[in-house]
Amino acid sequence: MSLTALPDWPYPPLIAHRGGGVLAPENTLAGLRAGRAHGYDMAEYDAKLSLDRVPLLMHDDTVDRTTDGTGAAAQKTYAEMAALDAGSWHSPPYAGEPVPALRAVARYTLANGMASNVEIKPCPGREAQTGTLVAQAVRELWREAARAPLLSSFSETALAAAARAAPELPRALLLEAALPHDWLERLRRHGCIALNMNERHITAEIAERVRAAGFRLGAWTVNDPARAALLRDWGVDSLITDRIDLLRP
Ligand code: G3P
Ligand code: MG
Repeated sequence: MSLTALPDWPYPPLIAHRGGGVLAPENTLAGLRAGRAHGYDMAEYDAKLSLDRVPLLMHDDTVDRTTDGTGAAAQKTYAEMAALDAGSWHSPPYAGEPVPALRAVARYTLANGMASNVEIKPCPGREAQTGTLVAQAVRELWREAARAPLLSSFSETALAAAARAAPELPRALLLEAALPHDWLERLRRHGCIALNMNERHITAEIAERVRAAGFRLGAWTVNDPARAALLRDWGVDSLITDRIDLLRP
């Protein structure tokens, strides 16, 4: 197999999932602080739009699981989202923790020298708009950053829109299942530098193929130290983990 030069990868081998993994409420500033306190200098988190198109952090399409509210995230204004309690579901020490705007997260990561993997997580039907507006926001908010945030998405519509809006930002394609036959074509189509795969579907052979083709490889969500060591041996560039207490940078 002929080797292609790998793109720059200014990111660390360990990345905290959804901010600070399971030690703090996901997609909050408290989560980022937990990651920082455990020595992490990069976090992955999920960005979507409020009804009035403000980029903010939330994983699900509804606010039900991770806040004290109910209903679709896409039907709430930023002011309504910011008034929710996004911490009590996790544990009492985090009661009152707000849903953060992407702007606040940029401030925190820049002030603390943390790198970011902004996963573009559109609500249904808002794929292109979310890709465009999140990429534009990242370009503006992180313009002084030493390391540009890595944009990633399962939505190829969102990735394509992000590539059009801010072509200079690095991108990764997220894959949930086994490596599809057209993986290389899809990475090239969206100008990606990396593939971020569900760790369950990564083998030594896949890691070698992806990296030999000139792409970086990320794995999520890796919570077992023995599995983490194996993936590192296979050449996986970065592991995204919920267990920031077990996998130590
Ligand atoms: O970006 C990797 C990982 O976060 C993708 O899955 O559902 O946790 O956003 P999910
Ligand atoms: Mg995510």
